[in-house]
Amino acid sequence: MVRLQKYLAHCGVASRRGAENLIQQGRVSVNGVVISEMGVQIDEANDRIEVDGTLVEPEKKMVYVLLNKPVGYVTTVSDDKGRNTVMDLVADIPVRIYPVGRLDYDTEGLLLMTNDGDLTYRITHPKNNVEKTYEAEVTGNISMNTLLQLRNGIMLDGVKTSPAKVEVIGATRLGTKLEITIHEGKNRQVRRMFEAVGCVVKKLKRTREAGLILGHVPLGRWRKLTEAEVNMLKKIGTGKKSSAQVSREKFGHTKYKKRK
Ligand code: URA
Repeated sequence: MVRLQKYLAHCGVASRRGAENLIQQGRVSVNGVVISEMGVQIDEANDRIEVDGTLVEPEKKMVYVLLNKPVGYVTTVSDDKGRNTVMDLVADIPVRIYPVGRLDYDTEGLLLMTNDGDLTYRITHPKNNVEKTYEAEVTGNISMNTLLQLRNGIMLDGVKTSPAKVEVIGATRLGTKLEITIHEGKNRQVRRMFEAVGCVVKKLKRTREAGLILGHVPLGRWRKLTEAEVNMLKKIGTGKKSSAQVSREKFGHTKYKKRK
């Protein structure tokens, strides 16, 4: 239970004093009954509060989190096999947030989580071509011919994957380390692309998505996105380019200002 004027202020309708004025003016109703005296208590979960006939609701606080997902967690809210889920890793956040897209159980790295359903829809919608970059450690050596095959597209389920950016970035004990950037989200796409050219992915880590960079967030930990990052994401699907996107197109990478 909460006092009516406090609830109105909490919902951003007016200041407490302003809310008292609205009540005195007979503009506020609770469950259809106009309230004009002060101090009425309401049940915010069940009562219907209106000002000038318009429903008043608490502003929903949007939360945007970048999680460094470890291997061994499923990217779902619950798991019928009883495995750990990414929800366990954000249990300390008081607001319920959800994963944006998927990472396999055996993939680690950048996973965006939010309660902003509209943004989730725009990031995951194929028409918006949101780029995702992975570091992949694969078995064997990669010839120039294989690299070109991966870049040009691989047939998966009878459909060719879109052109990808693929670079060799090192050698490992078992084979080769590559960076691959795709903008589709077919099931286990990166693993299956490498399988199709005869390599097995031994380790897969997402390092970038939609202009966000994993950076130094420890494995299993999360950080809130900055305001600039949220604003950048909100441009997706609007036809406007974010400065990070302009920078990527111009320089091939995102230019960041040094933190002071
Ligand atoms: N591609 C994969 O194969 N696995 C992932 O988790 C993401 C992309």
